Amino acid sequence: MEQELIKKKREIIDIFLKKGILISSELLKEINDFEHISRIFDVLQSKQIDDVLIINTNLNNLISKTKTQKTEDAKEEQQEHKVKVVYSYNEDPKKREPQDFVDYFNNRYKAIEKILKQRQELKNTVSINKIINKKEKENTSIIGIVSNKQVTKNGNLLLMLEDPTGQRSVLVNKNKPSLFNDAKDIVLDEVIGVVGVNVDTITFANNIIWPDTPTNKELKKAEKEKYALFLSDLHVGSSKFLPDDFDKFLRWINGDIGNEQQRHIAKNVEYIFIAGDLVDGCGIYPEQDKELVINDVYQQYKECAELLKQIPQHIPLIICPGNHDALRISEPQPPLSKDFAKPVYELNNTIMVSNPSLVNIDSSSSFMGFDVLIYHGYSFDYFVAEVNSLRSQGGYDRADLIMKFLLKRRHLAPSHLSTLYIPDTKKDPLIIEKVPDFFLSGHIHKSITANYRNTTLICGSCWQSKTIFQEKVGHNPEPSRVPIVNLQTRDIKILKFGS
Ligand SMILES: [Fe+2]
Repeated sequence: MEQELIKKKREIIDIFLKKGILISSELLKEINDFEHISRIFDVLQSKQIDDVLIINTNLNNLISKTKTQKTEDAKEEQQEHKVKVVYSYNEDPKKREPQDFVDYFNNRYKAIEKILKQRQELKNTVSINKIINKKEKENTSIIGIVSNKQVTKNGNLLLMLEDPTGQRSVLVNKNKPSLFNDAKDIVLDEVIGVVGVNVDTITFANNIIWPDTPTNKELKKAEKEKYALFLSDLHVGSSKFLPDDFDKFLRWINGDIGNEQQRHIAKNVEYIFIAGDLVDGCGIYPEQDKELVINDVYQQYKECAELLKQIPQHIPLIICPGNHDALRISEPQPPLSKDFAKPVYELNNTIMVSNPSLVNIDSSSSFMGFDVLIYHGYSFDYFVAEVNSLRSQGGYDRADLIMKFLLKRRHLAPSHLSTLYIPDTKKDPLIIEKVPDFFLSGHIHKSITANYRNTTLICGSCWQSKTIFQEKVGHNPEPSRVPIVNLQTRDIKILKFGS
């Protein structure tokens, strides 16, 4: 052992000599174990040795510096491993032709048809042009996109379903109350399955199948206690932005305020999501300028970055844009603009994704991680206005029901008019292809959380008090709330940083 140590020491002296550097006998005496030698080799292998002239005084500092660097690298590696962007839209803009819309809807039909065909009831569907071959009153199942919906003079519901081969009238009788009630929520352009009997030119529905999410999805849990925290709608630049509340949040996340349990949570936050509307923007709604304290979008992002900078740097900030951010409003919105939002990009811990996007967090060799679907929520307004059941159960106060409504349809904006969109011909990016563990939204400015078939639905709050525009459109903001999930237990708390 002793012999080997002496041999190693000689090797070290040689290596230093080759570099034209002398190693002092003092330092050689200090080297008395193999761990120390291996640390010296680490230093030698790194470029940092070139910066050192007198190694007898600086070597130990250098060793500790190398150690820190190694830890930081490991942390970075670990961090990268823990946040994986599964899907973020980043196609170059291009001119769209009318045919693109046709292809877009055909793709959407095919993708949702594929989900629907996994259902037992829809294993043997026929295309609409083949119904003619079916015997009268024979049970038939079809899958189609809803192109029309009306109430007949007898009070029944008459749908027009289309597939690539043709169209078919489907009648939902009011005397089937449960089915009729569900069917009332059907919106234009969604894709559904219908099981029914054919009489003449009409299919009489006995069952309607939505793509929906599976009933047996596992409620995944992390191995250790750690937290994910969900923000949205900061609206920096607005005169209604609430700096004191946000400052309180920053003091908490830095461990400066809160009771023992709250500080414990702050210390164990490992992921922060921000679901859009980082700034208030300019010219987003009529007379907005009267409610701005920062009139320049560049300055708004600069101020926003100043605030986000105060969040501990080891926590990744996963950020998608919203309709107030400075970029196109059509969905999918690409990640925030590198020009306008440059100061936010310059923060070390930001991960920019599109709206919508899918991000996987916390995976390891033994855990597949959590899939988080992020969608700002621009289509929510349309569905609150158009769907009676959503309105009657709370409308804007129940973002969870809107999110459930969309999950059931496996699409973030099923109706053509529900959002502005880019008709991408390769695939419809607003389809919810993979069932997420978390579905995060914002836009509504009121936080709510719920569980739907083991997908946790979370709507972020906001950091802006009620604007005149919100007053007019009937939003009921509840600012300065922060939903936080314990990933080990999947328990959720909503922390309150305002009145
Ligand atoms: Fe907002």
